[in-house]
Amino acid sequence: MKKERLIEEIARLKKEKRAVILAHNYQPEEVQDIADFVGDSLELSRKAAEVEEDIIVFCGVHFMAETAKILAPQKKVLIPDVKARCPMADMVSGNDLRWMKEQHPGKKVVAYVNTTAEVKAETDICCTSANAVKVVSNLPDEEIIFVPDRNLAAYVSQKTGKRLHYWDGYCPIHEHIEVKDIKKMKKLHPQAEVWAHPECRPEVLALADRILSTGQMIREAPRSQAREIIVATEVGILHRLRKENPDKIFYPAGEKAICQNMKRISLKKVYKTLLREKPEVIVEPELAERAREALKRMVQFV
Ligand code: 13P
Ligand code: SF4
Repeated sequence: MKKERLIEEIARLKKEKRAVILAHNYQPEEVQDIADFVGDSLELSRKAAEVEEDIIVFCGVHFMAETAKILAPQKKVLIPDVKARCPMADMVSGNDLRWMKEQHPGKKVVAYVNTTAEVKAETDICCTSANAVKVVSNLPDEEIIFVPDRNLAAYVSQKTGKRLHYWDGYCPIHEHIEVKDIKKMKKLHPQAEVWAHPECRPEVLALADRILSTGQMIREAPRSQAREIIVATEVGILHRLRKENPDKIFYPAGEKAICQNMKRISLKKVYKTLLREKPEVIVEPELAERAREALKRMVQFV
């Protein structure tokens, strides 16, 4: 089927089945363009919790769709490709976290939303890159268990002055953005500001003018005085940044910063998913109930 026809069919099925399409900022451009709402992990979680439609087609990686299902249990949540998983989320298991809790008895657990439902069920409060600093500073505790991102943990610890016992996980895509990439881009574009996602390595964050979630980048770009911005995160974000700020120039810090899992979703798969109403995201109710508490606490921190 041709692209134009696919777009028409998706719109028709969406209306017929009372469905909404949510997409993450790293999704392929063609998927972002047909979505009803595009955002970062926090914005998408909040949106999922309040949609009125019966079906959510979640264009992102699995933990995001799972989070949507936990926050909107009465909705049918579909993901166009179940193999679209986040390698960082799969770096820590429920057993790993239970082991950490044994090592640090009585310590509260903050889990990045990039985790499985099983990990969230063992967690006191979840956070995203947009609200991690707020979530941790709001806790009265000075020592906290943090999973799974070591880079986000280091950043949050530096900002809050708290001691985080963190898991040694990382995002392979952000980890590959190096100091030399930033320096090279700075040399080419000396006037440009550097904006980095907190999943980047600490030495990359040290060179950044701003450290922001993907949603914060989108919101800050029109307000910023900077005319040129070097963006240290997954390249999918450039689509909206460029579309919404035609007067500014955005450079990727690394052309190879591509999350292949995010790119598994395509227009064709969105169409097939809507047509067949599968694959459906199912979370075991008892697990979902435990995970929901940690997520509900998370969405209160904007
Ligand atoms: P955001 O919440 O900033 O969109 O980040 C999600 C993510 O997976 C980053 O790699
Ligand atoms: Fe996971 Fe990294 Fe992909 Fe984000 S960019 S979904 S953290 S692998």
